[in-house]
Amino acid sequence: MLAGKKILLAVSGSIAAYKSALIVRLCIKEQAEVRIIMTESAKKFVTPTTLSTLSKHPVYSSFYKDNSEDWHNHVALGLWADLLIIAPASAHTLSKMAHGLCDNFLLSVFLSARCPVYFAPAMDLDMLAHSATQKNIDLLVSRGNHLITSDVGELASGLNGKGRMAAPETIVNILREHFKTGIFSNKKVLITSGPTYETFDSVRFIGNHSSGKMGYALALLFAKKGAQVVFISGPVKNYPKHPHIEVIKVTSADEMLETCKNQYLDINFAIFAAAVADYKPSMPFDKKHKKDGNPLNITLIENPDIAQELGKLKDETQIHVGFALETHDGEASAKEKIKRKNLNLIVLNSLEDPGVGFGQDTNKITIYDRFEKKFPFELKDKKEVAQDIVKIIQSYA
Ligand code: PMT
Repeated sequence: MLAGKKILLAVSGSIAAYKSALIVRLCIKEQAEVRIIMTESAKKFVTPTTLSTLSKHPVYSSFYKDNSEDWHNHVALGLWADLLIIAPASAHTLSKMAHGLCDNFLLSVFLSARCPVYFAPAMDLDMLAHSATQKNIDLLVSRGNHLITSDVGELASGLNGKGRMAAPETIVNILREHFKTGIFSNKKVLITSGPTYETFDSVRFIGNHSSGKMGYALALLFAKKGAQVVFISGPVKNYPKHPHIEVIKVTSADEMLETCKNQYLDINFAIFAAAVADYKPSMPFDKKHKKDGNPLNITLIENPDIAQELGKLKDETQIHVGFALETHDGEASAKEKIKRKNLNLIVLNSLEDPGVGFGQDTNKITIYDRFEKKFPFELKDKKEVAQDIVKIIQSYA
């Protein structure tokens, strides 16, 4: 899978630098072309000779060749690579990457590289957990860099916790996955996400607490798998950022439906993760409605059902996946919705389960197909839930 791929491995100063030797070996074994960049502090943990011997190529660490006036061209190196991976990425290097600093060769290549960038943080648990480091990681991810999550275990400090660099085998597996031409490569995926707000008067609305986290995780995963994602979202705090994701912000169910219809023509997959308001006020007030001491009766009328409307347009080649958010009779409701909305799969999440629902970082799902085959999953982080959903979709595509 890695044969012929040009991999640029950048090693920064962390005890985990010794593991970079194994990453090089595994890549070379699969006939990848590997070039190495090291920061000066990385050399305290593993020698350039080790990495140059394994990669069969001199290591880059300064702008100049052997103290001569000849310089190493960081732009050319960035353009050469099919993929840049920073492993280990120390807290210091992460921070400089996030803030666009450029005081060493690694950072100049990072800033000029046009290829996908992966980074594998390695540091002590408190450094990783610090809000500054977390913010830096979020910033890097929001700009389309791919995070390789750190492992939990014994750390060089003797403490136990999250901070170890992912194992070289895991990292190389992720690189393999990256180069696998998956079924989503160049496919177009439409995702609805977040709540809808239905106007009550000029300053108020009826809405719900969907944070869009589930839709966000799905959008990023599809994008990482090479899909072009159209992300149609109601008002939320965070929208995914990735070169393959187009975010279209909407407010009401009517607007969401119209946008979905406009985007639908060449869609291969449609995922309906939005919590669309089922009702809207029939006659919203055009000014702020003032109280007058009397009860106020508002007539609510049904909103269009977006999944159902698009289900009518769907052909045999298109795959639709809906969600069912239930408080009771989950299975029966999911089975009814999959048919009524002409879905291929439905993801049931039940508010009866702890850790499930609006705004949570976790979800516990059961996926049903049209033949009532079911795939139950444990409570997991929404990023992992997205992976389970995408795996099942993949097996039905
Ligand atoms: O956003 P988070 O805070 O991360 O929370 C995630 C979530 C709970 C919102 C998500 O996991 C989820 O369950 N989304 C669907 C919520 C929902 O509205 O479920 P439903 O059972 O009411 O709707 C069934 C399906 O029809 C859904 O795919 C929904 O998007 C779609 N629908 C519903 C009504 C409507 N008018 N139009 C629709 O398209």
